[in-house]
Amino acid sequence: MQLGNEREEIKALSASIKRYLKFRTRSGMLFLSGKKEVEGESGSGDPRGLAGEMDGDLFSDHSEIHQAKNLEELRAAIGDCQRCKLWPGRTHLVFGVGNPHAKVMFVGEAPGRDEDLKGEPFVGRAGQLLTDIITKGMGLRREDVYIANVIKCRPPENRNPEPDEVASCEPFLKKQIDLIKPRVIVALGKFAVEALLRSKVAITRLRGTWHDYHGIRLMPTLHPAYLLRNPGDKKLVWEDIKKVLEELRSASN
Ligand code: URA
Repeated sequence: MQLGNEREEIKALSASIKRYLKFRTRSGMLFLSGKKEVEGESGSGDPRGLAGEMDGDLFSDHSEIHQAKNLEELRAAIGDCQRCKLWPGRTHLVFGVGNPHAKVMFVGEAPGRDEDLKGEPFVGRAGQLLTDIITKGMGLRREDVYIANVIKCRPPENRNPEPDEVASCEPFLKKQIDLIKPRVIVALGKFAVEALLRSKVAITRLRGTWHDYHGIRLMPTLHPAYLLRNPGDKKLVWEDIKKVLEELRSASN
């Protein structure tokens, strides 16, 4: 299982490097300063040469992300992100909100219109339902938990996130989880489950059972937006949330 996850991660990383190189080549940026160096246009020159240029360009983004020591540093490292094609359409990058030491973290799909305008996840109609689950169902406050999405920028017309967008944004979510170290992750809907568990198994089959995300217990459940369309399934989510509450109680004993 663990080995399978690592293989998937290596595959995703290699796909991401290929995409990045293609993007740099298409936009004419690849080897640009290396060429200058050869033509003697850059004064004393950079002793790292081409290899240095490539190393720096390929991994500088990610090393800053990996090196962030807290959520503020991570947010700063993400900056005015233009790593995928969603950035021109956003009002705000929706990073995440809540307690940086939360015991429970909710992971959704992507910001919608309300979230894009406010810069905060789950503040629209689906967000109100999630807030009810947290407050009325779990007896917690929104400030007690942490809420984030797989994708940090709104896809146009709220379409489904595309694989390259998920791949660009994934390191941010992983680092958020790594910094927060929640006891439990609640993965809301198909996209969160696919991104975190690398599983294409239907959410209806996965929900309600515990899974492992790098040593953290993960409970897949139905997305609040789905519940708005299918209110009869709210009882299923309540069953899942009761399991989360039991786990949190047993962890604090
Ligand atoms: N749906 C999501 O998945 N995330 C949000 O932030 C809002 C709606």
